[in-house]
Amino acid sequence: MKTEGGSPLNFNPEPHAGSDRKRLRGGAPIQIGLLGCGTVGGGVLRLLAENAGYLAERAGVPLVVKRVVVRDLEKERVSALDRSLLTTRPEEVVDDPAIDLVVEVMGGETPARALIERAIDQGKGVVTANKLLLAAHGPALLARAAARQVDLAFEGAVGGGIPIIRTLRDALASDWVASVTAILNGTCNYILTRMRDTGASFDAALREAQQLGYAEADPTLDVDGHDAAHKLIVLAMLAFGAQVDSESVHTSGIRNIEEADHRYADRFGYTIKHLAIGRDLGGSIELRVHPTLIPKQSVLANVSGVLNAVLLEGRAVGPALVYGRGAGDLPTAVSVVSDILDVARSIASGVAGMQGRGMSIKPRPVRPLGEIVSRYYLRFVVEDRPGVMGRLAGALGDAGVSIEQIVQQEPAREGQGAAPAGGRTAREPAADVVLITHDAQEGLVRNALDAIAREHFLREPVRLFRIEAT
Ligand code: NAP
Ligand code: HSE
Repeated sequence: MKTEGGSPLNFNPEPHAGSDRKRLRGGAPIQIGLLGCGTVGGGVLRLLAENAGYLAERAGVPLVVKRVVVRDLEKERVSALDRSLLTTRPEEVVDDPAIDLVVEVMGGETPARALIERAIDQGKGVVTANKLLLAAHGPALLARAAARQVDLAFEGAVGGGIPIIRTLRDALASDWVASVTAILNGTCNYILTRMRDTGASFDAALREAQQLGYAEADPTLDVDGHDAAHKLIVLAMLAFGAQVDSESVHTSGIRNIEEADHRYADRFGYTIKHLAIGRDLGGSIELRVHPTLIPKQSVLANVSGVLNAVLLEGRAVGPALVYGRGAGDLPTAVSVVSDILDVARSIASGVAGMQGRGMSIKPRPVRPLGEIVSRYYLRFVVEDRPGVMGRLAGALGDAGVSIEQIVQQEPAREGQGAAPAGGRTAREPAADVVLITHDAQEGLVRNALDAIAREHFLREPVRLFRIEAT
């Protein structure tokens, strides 16, 4: 095969490129220091060991783990770990001049941030899966890495095993990304799927997710939506060039979704998913994370269990979907090890620091939640007496919110299916009134709900979920 200019295309450049790399480093292995050896770190060690030959061919030099930092030297670890490498002293990694590349899979902000900064300052490449840290300090860390001409890679931080960081940073670099609609937390998606499909309780489904290694060390980060918000902030950095702080991202989790909400959503033709939504509106961006009703037949509605998916809309490319396992040891390790390979290859080729070159990340305003326009699912648990339905409809109408559909149903009683919510007893005459609004500005909906909250017929706080067409 010939190129336009007539010179042959070389599909197997290894012999030449390999010898160049060997000249640059004299064929010396890339020495890796691992900060953390838990779920993800264990997976990384397994993949590095199982694919050592192939990875060395792709990098042009062997990849060798020199030190592994943990808290507890006695804990049981994956068999791929050579226990003589263990230490509790992170300085044996970040201050060792022989270590070229630091892999941070310990999580949290302290001491991870200081260790990454120190590694960068010492000229080492860094790979991390730490979305909490990147959401808080990503732009500063990237700038620090650029100034020192080293790479900071973080494919494992968002979407576990799915290649969403590369997709935004490289594959779509030539496009303008208009929106990101995503299922980003495997634990939430697992819990919602189990609750919907098997009637499992929230607590039982969370325990399963923890046993499977999906949940964070602190699972409130998952179920209260913060983990997905951290990931959305990281994606917004790449998709919209936006630097945002987590306080400006509306974040709510899945704790207050009841079995009844799954049933009503289904009856109206929807599934409840925990979504992260980002939109570039030009002057500002929209960033929010919350449970959302989406049509049952939509692509995202059929992303189940621990699977994650990111649906992108590019001006030029149109819709694009990235989909796969969003958490767990080996899927996440695939992303981390592919980053190790990229960074190692750059070091071995003498071109470190190219990954983030020219990336522009600036503060951008986030549209206040009160200004967004959406359709809404509202569930009121009310006293079942004359006039209540009229008062609800009236309050919404007075606020300028128009109702599309409405149903009233007596909540299921103990012994007839689901347990009554909020401690109601079988004798109380309570009813669920569930309605779907037309498009409305959220501020107006909130005004109506404030008025309704003052009514004595309301038995429980209202459940509000936004509806997206996806
Ligand atoms: P993990 O199982 O809790 O492992 C954390 C590891 O770091 C442990 O080996 C722990 O040591 C070590 N460590 C923590 N703090 C330390 C300190 N101060 N000094 C020394 N060692 C310390 O966590 P993980 O699930 O692997 O997650 C690691 C990172 O990957 C986090 O940033 C997480 O958000 C991210 N991530 C996780 C997943 C997933 O599915 N789990 C997916 C994507 C990204 P000991 O073992 O001695 O306690
Ligand atoms: N706890 C996270 C989740 C791990 O459940 O998605 C992957 O980032």
